[in-house]
Amino acid sequence: MSELPQYKQANQTVTFDYPEHPLQVTVLTDAIVRIFEDRGEKGQSYAIEGNKETKAAYTVTDAGDHYEVKTAALTIKLDADRHVDAYDQDGNALVTDYRGKRQLLDKGIDKVHERLVKAEGHSVSKSTVSSDTGFFELIKSLAPDEHLYGLGDKTGYLDKRGFEYDNWNADNPQPQLEHFKNLYKSIPVMLGLKNGHPFGLFFDNTYKAHFDMGKENPNYYFYSAVEGNLDYYILGGSSLKDVVTNYTYLTGRVPLPQKWTLGYQQSRWGYSASQKQVQDIADGLKKYDLPCDAIHFDVDYMDGYRVFTWDKNKFEGDPKAFVAKLKKRGIKVIPIIDPGVKKDPDYKTYAEGVKHDYFVKTPDNKVYINKVWPGDSAFPDFGRPEVRKWWANNNKFLTDNGVGGVWIDMNEPASFEGDIPDDTVFSDQETPSTHKKMHNVYGHNMAKATYTGLKEQQGRRPYVITRAAYAGTQKYATVWTGDNRSIWPHIQMMIPQICNLGMSGFSFVGTDIGGFASDTNAELLTRWIEAAIFSPLLRNHAAMGTRHQEPWSFGEPTLSIYRKYLKLRYHFIPYLYDLFAQESQNGLPIMRPLVLNYDDDPRTRDLNDEFMVGDDILVAPIVEKSKIKRLVYLPAGKWIDFWNNREYDGQQDIVVDAPLDKLPLFIKANTLLPWGPSVDHISEEPDKAMTFKLFGNEGTYEHYQDDGLDFNYQNGEFNRYEVTVKDGEVAVNLLHHGFEPAYQTITVDLPDSSVTLHYDTASDGYVLK
Ligand code: GLC
Repeated sequence: MSELPQYKQANQTVTFDYPEHPLQVTVLTDAIVRIFEDRGEKGQSYAIEGNKETKAAYTVTDAGDHYEVKTAALTIKLDADRHVDAYDQDGNALVTDYRGKRQLLDKGIDKVHERLVKAEGHSVSKSTVSSDTGFFELIKSLAPDEHLYGLGDKTGYLDKRGFEYDNWNADNPQPQLEHFKNLYKSIPVMLGLKNGHPFGLFFDNTYKAHFDMGKENPNYYFYSAVEGNLDYYILGGSSLKDVVTNYTYLTGRVPLPQKWTLGYQQSRWGYSASQKQVQDIADGLKKYDLPCDAIHFDVDYMDGYRVFTWDKNKFEGDPKAFVAKLKKRGIKVIPIIDPGVKKDPDYKTYAEGVKHDYFVKTPDNKVYINKVWPGDSAFPDFGRPEVRKWWANNNKFLTDNGVGGVWIDMNEPASFEGDIPDDTVFSDQETPSTHKKMHNVYGHNMAKATYTGLKEQQGRRPYVITRAAYAGTQKYATVWTGDNRSIWPHIQMMIPQICNLGMSGFSFVGTDIGGFASDTNAELLTRWIEAAIFSPLLRNHAAMGTRHQEPWSFGEPTLSIYRKYLKLRYHFIPYLYDLFAQESQNGLPIMRPLVLNYDDDPRTRDLNDEFMVGDDILVAPIVEKSKIKRLVYLPAGKWIDFWNNREYDGQQDIVVDAPLDKLPLFIKANTLLPWGPSVDHISEEPDKAMTFKLFGNEGTYEHYQDDGLDFNYQNGEFNRYEVTVKDGEVAVNLLHHGFEPAYQTITVDLPDSSVTLHYDTASDGYVLK
């Protein structure tokens, strides 16, 4: 063994002078430690904004054969051979370097057979590492009892152990199943439970990266990237929830959304090809008594797919008037915007971009052109602040037309004519850089630009929905999971995918309900609206040329069941909004896996077909064809069947009936929940009354209220109510009164009666009349 290196300390950073590459250990907080090795990459983090270092006490000790950097929550040990091992405050191993060598996976194939296998169109990779990885590699040991989560939108199951993934944002229309290595987003955070002890690891590197989660060998997992610095964060915490809170402290949280964005949204590629089609959809929603808050306009509304144009011929010459008319009916318009700007010298956006040098360039300084919807297109250089500003301002065209938000797509960036070459010049802020470095943050920077524009132009909380993202994009945009398919494996995948996105900081997320590609059917659509009814983004969207999947497309009983669940959703919107108010403080997702709430219960660690909404609701949808009964695992505590009030003990599996119209739903016993009114959309007028429902005998609930629209809540314009039921008595405590009007009445539905309290100006409280 070699000698321990020298070290020096500067504030909260300790630099260990290993030969060749010194290693820096920075204590950001008690539970967040950064490990950094300079490999010559310059530039700032896109994921982390601002200085996240807070004053945290730590010690460095020489323990003979290793050093120990110790905070209140973490101990990092570094030995003479550069091994870095992290332990929690009780000495439990969390993240430890693997001491052995990697053993490449032998797939037992020779050259001759490889050719043969490839001839039928199969792909062959000899080891689990794709050929261009290996710039550096971090190999960490895997315990027999270790579960791994996170990684954003990856396909497959909740527990990522045993699979491999790449981080390289891609638009791949093939059926996205568990063998897929990468989708649209690169969120390099993983969370784990090692022998039941929670931790997180965040690798802040935008280059193409690879994660092998113990597929190659059950004794280790590894991470590699093709370039960049070795720059990672070890996250501790006494629970998985703490780890998520710490991770979102670092990369940011989903800001409080406008309340109506939690309403139902109807979409289809093709609607906006004519005003009549959109009108028919709006009429259909009304005729069939289906609540709805938004209709999305796909690429068809534009003039020849030119972004920031509106084909007036399709909208009776006046899109603004039409948008206003829909808004009056409670339906907001959300148009799509792609990054590709049509190459057309007579088109303003293209001409401006060329004139000011806003597009990415070939290495020989020509505007780089590839094909997307409009044909030949140029790509804005979103890494540059000036380009983001230009793009932000371009959105004024849409906000002037009265849109409710903007849906941004194709921002991996996608290209139809081959991949964008690695050396294409994309800026890293003010510095010329490469596509290779900036690819994975392209969507992030486009989202940030769009958010900034909308905030300035609308003065409201921006509603931006993006397909591509990097760690930290959650600060700027809601996400959807891209082009799924109308197949049962994709309704199944929705649960772990949304749950892992949630644990990766992306709490405002949804999937295309009914499936985007391929033809849906009545049973699949029905089960999908049931399973997705608590997904924060609730949007039915389908590809052009697929079978129609509006709620009424299959007649009865699909329509009535669909309506029943949409109405249920609207009753739960105040609860979802409360969860967002909490999330903006603690980063905890709305829709979450059971393991996040019960990480000490081994049964929850790879549950893929159930989830929770906050801490109080457990949902166990049917996600298999023709199934009408299912097994439900209930964790500790007592649980009440939402539909018939039957009470069950937890820590057991129960069998429940689930005919086509039933979503198995359980509420934790002794829970009070807000219950929004029956409405056809979320009004911009304040609610005058609120109802709470009691499940069990007693309960306490803290409820949040503000105008649901703008940023005034940041100046204290919100109300917090504490509602309590104990020994049959109902009490409401107005904890914070900063928003007017407070509810005039608050009604609490008890199991067999209901109590209404009235606002009393004199006491600024609630009284029985
Ligand atoms: C992409 C999007 C999809 C959209 C289509 C047309 O495939 O993922 O949602 O409908 O482009 O714009």
